[in-house]
Amino acid sequence: MCGIVAYVGEKSVDSVLLVGLIRLEYRGYDSAGVAVIDGGEIEIRKQLGKIRDLEEELRLHPVSGNIGIGHTRWATHGEPSKINAHPHVDSHKKIAVVHNGIIENYHLLRHELQKLGHKFVSETDSEIIPHLIEEELKTASGMVEALKNTIPKLEGKFSFTVIYENEPDRIFFARNGSPLVYGKGKNESFLASDVSAVIPAAKEEFRLDNGQWGWVTKNELHVFDENGKEVDHSLEEIKMNAMELDKGGFEHYMLKEIYEQPDVIRRIISNRIDGSTILFPEMALPLDYQGRVTRIIITSAGTSWHAGIIGKLYFEKYVKIATEVDISSEFRYRNPIAEGDSMVIAISQSGETADTLAGIHEAKSKFCRVLSFVNNVNSTIARESDAFISLMGGVEIGVASTKAYTAQLLNLLLYSMYLSSIKWLSTPEERSELITEIRALPEKIETVLKGADQIKEWAKELKDAKDFIFLGRHFNHPTALEGALKLKEISYVHASGYAGGEFKHGPIALISSEVPTVCIAPQTEIYPKMVSNIEEVKARKGRIVSIYTEGDTKVPEMSEFSFAIPKTIDVLTPILTIIPLQLFSYYMAVERGCEPDQPRNLAKSVTVE
Ligand code: G6P
Repeated sequence: MCGIVAYVGEKSVDSVLLVGLIRLEYRGYDSAGVAVIDGGEIEIRKQLGKIRDLEEELRLHPVSGNIGIGHTRWATHGEPSKINAHPHVDSHKKIAVVHNGIIENYHLLRHELQKLGHKFVSETDSEIIPHLIEEELKTASGMVEALKNTIPKLEGKFSFTVIYENEPDRIFFARNGSPLVYGKGKNESFLASDVSAVIPAAKEEFRLDNGQWGWVTKNELHVFDENGKEVDHSLEEIKMNAMELDKGGFEHYMLKEIYEQPDVIRRIISNRIDGSTILFPEMALPLDYQGRVTRIIITSAGTSWHAGIIGKLYFEKYVKIATEVDISSEFRYRNPIAEGDSMVIAISQSGETADTLAGIHEAKSKFCRVLSFVNNVNSTIARESDAFISLMGGVEIGVASTKAYTAQLLNLLLYSMYLSSIKWLSTPEERSELITEIRALPEKIETVLKGADQIKEWAKELKDAKDFIFLGRHFNHPTALEGALKLKEISYVHASGYAGGEFKHGPIALISSEVPTVCIAPQTEIYPKMVSNIEEVKARKGRIVSIYTEGDTKVPEMSEFSFAIPKTIDVLTPILTIIPLQLFSYYMAVERGCEPDQPRNLAKSVTVE
């Protein structure tokens, strides 16, 4: 949440910052701003709204210079407003700061600073940083010493960058808990929450660790540890491709990412399957430990939590391991009992979700080993886990997760097969049967995508419905949860997902001709039970929208709207059934005039608890 970017070099800083902020907009987009040293003085431009609003502000009131900082905000302390937008400044507007994270002791610090005569204009926690630095500068020899003295006073998670009028060639920074990366280009230096903000200009990167702070000029980087000792830093080549950040001709990233799913699945297959052998070359956990694991606890949030519920079904089916799944924000507070050889699996697209990270800390404090499934392998979660598995989904920009979800499902399934082979629970023949079905998935997803126009029509017909119910069972119970979440997230339509069996215990009371029910009813082991659910809705004159398996005639006959997916085995159905529901939420958002890539109040990477 919140994205920060900073630049010092030879280019015109306003345009560099704007490009970076557009790339970081997925981290928050309720207001944005920049601070630039222009003619020896700090100039600030801020705007409520999206980066395009800031761009307009800069067009009307231009700034020029070669050094500056920028911010895109997801409000935590203080409503979205121009005043609360970053950058924030000290009393004399000589120091400007952009901040990502939360300063937990800001009330106390603010009170102390007020007693010393500091006046605050915003309601944010962030504004205390420039004022604290200002106070420290009264006795320090310069900004480096002032920063060193300021950081220990801040409690919470943060990364921030600072420019200072009196030292106009340097950007100062600190990281503790929120991501920050340094990027090096030709005669230019960048700092940003995410490397996507600095490519293709930056060619090399250095990922800062918690507790590190320092300063950059256009050609130098100096990093210090918590004790003020300068640390070595070796730069690494940036591997991200700028092409991945384009919309590739699609109107929205979300649609592009939905359509990328066949290729994502192909990539996972070609990297992870060799004959009947499943490969996880990046796996850092010893084989004998993995063979010994007797219990798995999965912790994740949002869409990743839904993937985790399906992961539990895979582990129990193929590895016969008792598996629990917990929402990350609940896991850490429930005092989880870790006994024997328990392994904690954290699932996260971004690898930065604060709740999931806190769950990892909890697990480690109980001496559990942590394996994470992450899309961003350079993320904090990947680094803080004992081992990670790369989802191989490619960069996901749309706030609503789509391709990362199906990548999570396939990687969880493959890892359950991998564990089953380590534990001698499956034969190569059994694995081969499953692999044959997995290999057919990309084409089947393509078949589903060819039906997008049919889903678009549904959205036209159903766009005014105010409530939806989603029903699914077994492997597709999480599909119902995920389908409902997608609709809420980007179309702002109320939707609730239920296990089909729970329907009669309450939700059935909601059925009316006003409330469409989306029934996920592929031909699996529990198909007859889903048919009973559909009958129950029909008997109460509810509108039925269904996802069924091609060749089935019963379900489409009972439905007002129905969509066929190709035949597959039960465990793979959730990878196919979710795709029409992703498309449905997308087209509903478009029909309702919502912005699918940037839903209100949400952020892609939730770095606050
Ligand atoms: C946010 C996003 C969701 C995502 C969740 C977990 O709420 O809007 O799309 O599923 O975070 O994110 P993670 O990166 O940990 O998978």
